[in-house]
Amino acid sequence: MSPDDLRTSPGEQLSFGGFVRPLELTDLPELQPILEHWVVDRDSKHPLPKEVAADLLQMRESIEVGNEFQYFTAVGPNNNVVGVIGMRTPPESKLLTLPFLETNNPVELVNAYVAPDQRGGKGVGRALVSTLEQTAIAQGYDQVVLSSGPRYKDTGWGFYDRLEGYRRVGIAVGLFGPGGDAQVWKKDLTK
Ligand SMILES: CC(C)(COP(=O)(O)OP(=O)(O)OC[C@H]1O[C@@H](n2cnc3c(N)ncnc32)[C@H](O)[C@@H]1OP(=O)(O)O)[C@@H](O)C(=O)NCCC(=O)NCCS
Repeated sequence: MSPDDLRTSPGEQLSFGGFVRPLELTDLPELQPILEHWVVDRDSKHPLPKEVAADLLQMRESIEVGNEFQYFTAVGPNNNVVGVIGMRTPPESKLLTLPFLETNNPVELVNAYVAPDQRGGKGVGRALVSTLEQTAIAQGYDQVVLSSGPRYKDTGWGFYDRLEGYRRVGIAVGLFGPGGDAQVWKKDLTK
């Protein structure tokens, strides 16, 4: 599948007025402040620059090296970068912490972030997840799984609860360290 096959048409008019396409290296400077806004300590809300840098490197390497991740960028009507989402085949070590899977071929949703002034009902997140799901189905995956830590309880969990087909299936205890129990959702892509 070519990158163009994964691109929604700008003419398709997604509800936020933009489109979703595979991540490009030139998106990274615009994604940095979005990550810096959301990737903060869950208690103190202090910035976590090392975690942001690691996420940006992971995104960069998905293009430059071809690591296990695939990322998609939401682009607004002014060609501005407004969000990102990623996916990968979960590694064996991660599967052990997620004993909720019913298939051998899940894809893991990771790193969903939308610009603070573009989130919460404009449809950016929904468009990103839709592209991820369509890509996953085309690549033969049959289930989406995601785990979200307490850091995102107020800003992210309600979103997944609203999405079609996503069910809370359990808690991954300590996935994000002491006190960092993660809520896990999954969606069957075969229905
Ligand atoms: C979670 C996130 C990616 C969703 O993207 P978004 O652009 O806000 O989502 P959408 O606008 O497509 O919202 C889809 C629906 O979910 C609702 N929604 C979005 N975030 C919500 C939340 N935190 N709680 C309850 N509902 C939420 C929207 O109002 C909308 O409702 P509708 O069905 O009535 O239209 C985005 O809000 C975000 O970046 N949050 C901060 C970072 C974060 O928590 N990331 C998740 C990490 S696991």
